[in-house]
Amino acid sequence: MKKVIKNGTIVTATDTFRADVLVENGVISMIVDNLNDQGAEVVDATGCYLFPGGVDPHTHFEMPFGGTVTKDDFETGTIAAAFGGTTTVIDFCLTDKGAPLKNAIDTWHAKSKEKSVIDYGFHLMIGEINDDVLSQLPSVINEEGITSFKVFMAYKNVLQADDETLFKTLIAAKDLGALVMVHAENGDVIEYLTKQALAQGNTDPIYHALTRPAEIEGEATERASTFTGLANSQLYVVHVSCADAARKIAEARNKGIDVWGETCPQYLVLDQSYLEKPDFEGAKYVWSPPLREKWNQEVLWNALKTGQLQTVGSDQCSFDFKGQKELGRGDFSKIPNGGPIVEDRVSILFSEGVLKGRISLNQFVDVTSTKAAKLFGLYPKKGTIAVGADADLVIFDPTVERTISAESHHMAVDYSVFEGMKVTGEPVSVLSRGEFVIRDKTFVGKPGAGQFLKRAKYGEVKANLTKETLTL
Ligand code: URP
Ligand code: ZN
Ligand code: ZN
Ligand code: ZN
Repeated sequence: MKKVIKNGTIVTATDTFRADVLVENGVISMIVDNLNDQGAEVVDATGCYLFPGGVDPHTHFEMPFGGTVTKDDFETGTIAAAFGGTTTVIDFCLTDKGAPLKNAIDTWHAKSKEKSVIDYGFHLMIGEINDDVLSQLPSVINEEGITSFKVFMAYKNVLQADDETLFKTLIAAKDLGALVMVHAENGDVIEYLTKQALAQGNTDPIYHALTRPAEIEGEATERASTFTGLANSQLYVVHVSCADAARKIAEARNKGIDVWGETCPQYLVLDQSYLEKPDFEGAKYVWSPPLREKWNQEVLWNALKTGQLQTVGSDQCSFDFKGQKELGRGDFSKIPNGGPIVEDRVSILFSEGVLKGRISLNQFVDVTSTKAAKLFGLYPKKGTIAVGADADLVIFDPTVERTISAESHHMAVDYSVFEGMKVTGEPVSVLSRGEFVIRDKTFVGKPGAGQFLKRAKYGEVKANLTKETLTL
């Protein structure tokens, strides 16, 4: 039904202003000051910000990985996302070599269709490139609406693709109008260092980090950027963890190569010392790439502030400590990689970013919502508050103080990596296409209400990005 959201302060990636918002048929139909009620349901947002719903371009729901399956599926994961102020997720669809790409896409639709409470899209993993795969890509883009591909440069013998595959994917993507995403680490070097550490009896979680040095994330980032320049293609580097990689992205952009970079909340506020927690607790903090020395955090915040990194994804990839992370007791290489972040992404960027003066309020909206919507072909339906946009809205109280805890979070896992952390600011109500998903901090949405989003091609949205490309 019609709604008028009154008395809030609207924040977009460029503007902050007081106005009321009329929502009709799931879409924003009017934005003016002192809107009369128009016979609509009135929602009072006094004292609150009104943000465009968060766009999280990086989740792994119900994904088989590391000998187990991620704990949060499209139901628990998107409910948690909504509680955290995110109204769109783009999840990674894993493919199997030799099998039709359509099979993998159908599998991902089956996981999500009846479960997702918010809108969602898929990125498609490319593990091999041959004539057969190439012949399927046009329909992936034009019919399935999946306009971004993911290539892993790490996880040797599991997900890793070789340089030839990456280069050919970049060339194909250029022709087809897709954005290529990379997990940039050197999997071959990691494999060697891992075997060496284990042979020396170094089995604790900290060795996960020590066998994946920042230099090889930088090296892989530079290699992927170089290939992108040669192919005259486009690249998005996921989960940038360190100064080495952030600098390589900035260098490539300065050369005019079309490279974008995403970091994640965990790299902005946690550091490598967490891996040394006793009683195997360090396993909770195992990600690839790993948490880094603390000084990297300032470099990453600065990169967001100056536009050298453009987005913040959660890399939601959750495993219970009991029974899942524990698979790696006695062998760090068997700890499932990843953590529960989707619910806390927006709040951490607001509290640690905006309130601590590291990024502006408008930059916060850009990195948590707008830029990802633009890069992945969803803008302006998603990622902004404007007439004609989907009414994906977050009513956010910037004054509430609270403590993050697994006791109160909605992710399906038995721990929080931010346990005990105090944050200020909280989503109070969240709407997806004009319907409440969260109302006064209570879930009122419906599994299956989220719609699959067919996304525009990269080339089609590039006009939205040209300005930033030129000025940075
Ligand atoms: O450790 C991580 N990042 N797990 C999720 C899979 C990936 O590499 O993004
Ligand atoms: Zn309604
Ligand atoms: Zn990755
Ligand atoms: Zn990931």
